[in-house]
Amino acid sequence: LSDSVSGTRALRILGVIGSPRSDSTSAALVDRVLASAAALGADTVTCDLRVRPLPFFDPVASVGDPAAAAARELARWADAFVLGTPDYHGAPSGALKNFLDHLWRELAGKLFAIVVASNEKGLSVQDHLRTSIRQCYGWALPYGAGAPAAAVADDGSVADPRLAERLDMMACDLVAYGTLLRDRRLADLAAASSPRESGFMARRRTP
Ligand SMILES: Cc1cc2nc3c(=O)[nH]c(=O)nc-3n(C[C@H](O)[C@H](O)[C@H](O)COP(=O)(O)O)c2cc1C
Repeated sequence: LSDSVSGTRALRILGVIGSPRSDSTSAALVDRVLASAAALGADTVTCDLRVRPLPFFDPVASVGDPAAAAARELARWADAFVLGTPDYHGAPSGALKNFLDHLWRELAGKLFAIVVASNEKGLSVQDHLRTSIRQCYGWALPYGAGAPAAAVADDGSVADPRLAERLDMMACDLVAYGTLLRDRRLADLAAASSPRESGFMARRRTP
């Protein structure tokens, strides 16, 4: 097995910030998960849609768009994702949904954690995202995190200790399960698993 298949490289996690606000609560939640995952040895990168806005997805006009191509490249690089969004009417922000609309194959077989800034718990937002992740053949952690603005201090640190603990647990699970899924995905893509033992990602092998 090559290094990329045997899992000796660090897990790559992409955090996606789906809020348009400069002092965003959901961005602070993403930052906390990424920092905690980095402390566990993951490679982390942030895709901040405030800094890297994407054009409104158009199946025809978006082909060849440089911002969309850059987002696709980041998503291809990632083994796992932290999706952060405000609760907008019980659903994710348009910016985050638009990010997902630009992608599909780049998400298949990968693990997702969901964090939501919400005055409620953001459960319907999490359900919306779980559906989109499933449609892209991704895996979502079986729990998420939802928190109001008051849970984050002015400096962007997570002020609520129970929330901080949950986000750190999320980082731990992302690294542990993300690595298992990453290794299996790469083995299937590299034809390192036998035909009888190969799973759905093997169908995405390029000849
Ligand atoms: C258009 C809009 C719709 C919203 N809908 C909800 C909602 O349904 N439930 C809720 O708890 N908060 C709702 N909010 C409040 C935001 O989710 C909340 O302010 C959140 O902390 C913003 O996250 P951010 O700081 O990451 O941008 C809404 C805000 C906006 C602007």
